Amino acid sequence: MPLPQPLIQYCNDIHIAVSIAENTNDHPLLYVNQHFEQLTGYGKDELYGKNCRILQNKSNNDYNKSRIREFLKKDSIESIRVPLINFKKNGTPFINLLFMSKIKNCLNNTQYLFASQFDVSNTYPDILSHYEHTLKTALIDIPKTVRPNSLILSGSLSVVANATAAIAQAKVMLDQADAPLL
Ligand SMILES: Cc1cc2nc3c(=O)[nH]c(=O)nc-3n(C[C@H](O)[C@H](O)[C@H](O)COP(=O)(O)O)c2cc1C
Repeated sequence: MPLPQPLIQYCNDIHIAVSIAENTNDHPLLYVNQHFEQLTGYGKDELYGKNCRILQNKSNNDYNKSRIREFLKKDSIESIRVPLINFKKNGTPFINLLFMSKIKNCLNNTQYLFASQFDVSNTYPDILSHYEHTLKTALIDIPKTVRPNSLILSGSLSVVANATAAIAQAKVMLDQADAPLL
């Protein structure tokens, strides 16, 4: 099923990196916005149909990857926030504070996975708080864009509001990465 046009329009206009995948086997990407392209250096044509793990290269994200797999598997987990070591297309490493949520249809089945990526590697507190604000606004506004198409974004505001643990973990990763990220 194609993504609803109002949802695409909203994500095109938003000022943070966003990606959407199909909830089918191996979660192929259906959509990335221009901020995602700028952040990662990959163009959408290189990504559509592929799994976003392409950004991980050979990094060791075992614990947080297992948390993502659990989120993808269990209906009861509505959203998640984890830091991951990722690599831009040109090989530059960065710490990606990844937020993920589920877009469900009227039968409460997950139709799409929504995600937003934020590079915490070289950021300042005010940039992070601006990002948090934009993400929270998006999570409130997105259901308004998709409701006419009978899709809902599963409860996610609390995960953004309680991001302290994920951010703390990202900072630990950054400290450890004073040694090279590889
Ligand atoms: C919409 C969406 C966006 C994602 N974005 C990222 C990302 O930016 N970086 C990343 O490392 N993983 C990302 N992931 C997670 C991976 O695609 C994958 O689900 C994760 O690595 C766990 O699965 P695996 O152990 O099979 O790789 C994303 C997943 C989805 C569905």
